[in-house]
Amino acid sequence: MKWLVAALALLGCRNEPAARLPALQLPVVLPPLAEQQAALADALAKHHRTVFDRNLDAHDPGELREHIAYYQQTIDRLKPSPADLFRAGDDQFAYQFRPENGLGNGLRDFPAAGNRPTPNLRRVANGEFGGPEAMACADCHSVGGDDGAGSLTQNVMQRGDGDRTSSGDLRSAPALLGVGPVQRLAIEMTAELQAARATGIEQARAAGMPVTIMLTSKGVAFGELAVAPNGSVDTTKVVGVANDLVVRPFGWKGHQANLRGMVREAFRLHLGMVATVEQEWISQGILAPTAYGNVLWTDVDNDGVSTEADDGMVTTMVAYLAQLEVPVTRLPQQPIFLPMWSVGRDLFSSIGCSSCHRPSLQLNDAHFVTAPEMKVAGSPVHIDVAHDGLQPKPTAIPGGFAVELFSDLKRHHMGPGLAAAMAQPAEGGAIANDVWLTRPLWGLADSAPYLHDGRAATVRDAIVAHGGEADAARLGFEQAPAAHQQALLVYLLSLARTPHPVVP
Ligand code: HEC
Ligand code: HEC
Repeated sequence: MKWLVAALALLGCRNEPAARLPALQLPVVLPPLAEQQAALADALAKHHRTVFDRNLDAHDPGELREHIAYYQQTIDRLKPSPADLFRAGDDQFAYQFRPENGLGNGLRDFPAAGNRPTPNLRRVANGEFGGPEAMACADCHSVGGDDGAGSLTQNVMQRGDGDRTSSGDLRSAPALLGVGPVQRLAIEMTAELQAARATGIEQARAAGMPVTIMLTSKGVAFGELAVAPNGSVDTTKVVGVANDLVVRPFGWKGHQANLRGMVREAFRLHLGMVATVEQEWISQGILAPTAYGNVLWTDVDNDGVSTEADDGMVTTMVAYLAQLEVPVTRLPQQPIFLPMWSVGRDLFSSIGCSSCHRPSLQLNDAHFVTAPEMKVAGSPVHIDVAHDGLQPKPTAIPGGFAVELFSDLKRHHMGPGLAAAMAQPAEGGAIANDVWLTRPLWGLADSAPYLHDGRAATVRDAIVAHGGEADAARLGFEQAPAAHQQALLVYLLSLARTPHPVVP
């Protein structure tokens, strides 16, 4: 009996903090009725489309591809609105592509591809060829809701040998919310940095003297450029961005400058669907066919389907992604957490987390254009990333919009603990093993597991894995009193998604 009392007392002690919290008794506040009805109508309409699409596909295989994607000619002719493209893109994102749509390849004798019959899917990617390892975008981007993150089992094993899982360079799928404003921010930052370079060159030439230019954009410092009197540029002191000064906001390493490129890359690497424009580039000798296949460019992956991801389909997907909602800060509803939330927010800046994870970057211009690549004469599609599509959107502020993404869109050395096994080839120069783009923290609460390979099950695990340029901030966290550490976690978990009703 004595030991039982002792054990209970011990348990009581262990549970003390939790026991002190009052039980959750929160009134559920419903949004206004009209808003609820609109959200429910959207969810039901999407559900009905899914059921219709399923039947259509059973009745007439391949027909659905026509139905969910606009060909570029159709976009040129019908001029669909952003809302039309959103609907089509939404369906396309979840659509399970099939061999008759061009899924996979018929390249079992091509060294970089797998050795199975069409569609030749496999788990581990090979070099720049990729997998393919999936049938739909939503196969990997679904944790935390539509267009969300990936779970550990959905990790991509990129640039491996096509066979052994240990050969792949692991990447967790990030959530895709807010990529429209992020794309626009990167475009503005690139323009600012490149304008500074142009001014430097002009000044050095005019003065006949060397000039040093400090590179900053949106309050983020990217080192400096030394310009010689003849206008030649020394980039050795440029930091956090490739030497061409193009801010590449996509991918864990920040390897991809634009959403269109990211979408083409995803189609090819994960679904084995080659963009029509890439086939065109192969025919023109602009693109080496080594990562594509070994047969005629018209069906370079030899699966009998020539038009796999045409310009219109890529445009539809880009227009859709650019209109996704942005994550939000959702204050804890239970009053007891509110003071902790404030303490956590203060700690986040006082220990230096916010020097990389910038709580907000100002977007000046929300107008985003997605243009077809091959048919340069075709109509571009215009999206207002601060209004079109799913709400909520970045907040309007004087002179623009506050994009609360918690990133500086800059690359950092994160130390040997976080280094990948290999450097990553990229436009603008290879990206070193331990270099990663500051991952935006918006939506964090709904996107576990964390870090580029999903190694961190909790936010705390992710923080203590920080090294390199983030050493001091990590130490600041580790040395903070336990209560402050907990407060920081409460604060970070307020970075979340707005709940949307879903009809399964
Ligand atoms: C097999 C899993 C998988 C599938 C399927 C997949 N993705 Fe991804 N996606 C990833 C991973 C992993 C990354 C991170 C890539 C990197 O770091 O280089 C990513 C990154 C992205 C990004 C950049 C996001 C950011 O913030 O960096 C976009 C956009 C994207 N995917 C869109 C798509 C689209 C569109 C499709 C369908 C055509 C798709 N993905 C299919 C795994 C997947
Ligand atoms: C030097 C810049 C830098 C500093 C300072 C920094 N971080 Fe990070 N943070 C990063 C980078 C880069 C990544 C992505 C690393 C990776 O995936 O390997 C990251 C990832 C994260 C993640 C995981 C995000 C996800 O979606 O997987 C969390 C959480 C995080 N940081 C929180 C913090 C906190 C809290 C602090 C302060 C103690 C902090 N960071 C300080 C650069 C920084």
